[in-house]
Amino acid sequence: MYDNWEDLEKSIINCNKCKLYQNRNNIVFGVGNKQAKIMFIGEGPGADEDKEGTPFVGKAGQLMNKALEGLGIKREELYIANVVKCRPLSNRVPEQDESEVCINYLRNQVMLVKPKIIVLLGSTALKNILGSKYSITACRGKWVEKKQIYYMPTWHPAALLRDENKKIQFWKDLKEVKRRLEEI
Ligand code: URA
Repeated sequence: MYDNWEDLEKSIINCNKCKLYQNRNNIVFGVGNKQAKIMFIGEGPGADEDKEGTPFVGKAGQLMNKALEGLGIKREELYIANVVKCRPLSNRVPEQDESEVCINYLRNQVMLVKPKIIVLLGSTALKNILGSKYSITACRGKWVEKKQIYYMPTWHPAALLRDENKKIQFWKDLKEVKRRLEEI
């Protein structure tokens, strides 16, 4: 673990710890406020993110931005990162060996940001951060507190593009996040 951003960022530049490095255009490290009270964690970069090197800039990200805007949460208030930092081709779910090595970078980012709240976007984020016994359908919308961090599992924004009901639930979950954010 690195105790500063510079060393952590340097350590990842030429990462080839898993096969995802072979097809990447950019490592999508993470973006936002490094002292944020709240962190959002997704699955992994898609094509747009791989092209730009920034998380959640594609369709799913734009939808998430709209929800955040509607609730009055600014992207500058957040830190956003993913379980894996290189794009799995065809947007497949990252394989276990890929997420297992990459998540150490993410854990280091969490250690440096020290968020009070972490929003887990979808099943991959939930299972990799809290454990494989957690299921997104059972846990979404319910706080999990661990080591003084409040975790809110919710739908991945890409799932909202396919299902209107999930949009309503996502909005409700973020509203609850906003409520707690104002408390702390
Ligand atoms: N989906 C994710 O999980 N992360 C991104 O950065 C973009 C899409």
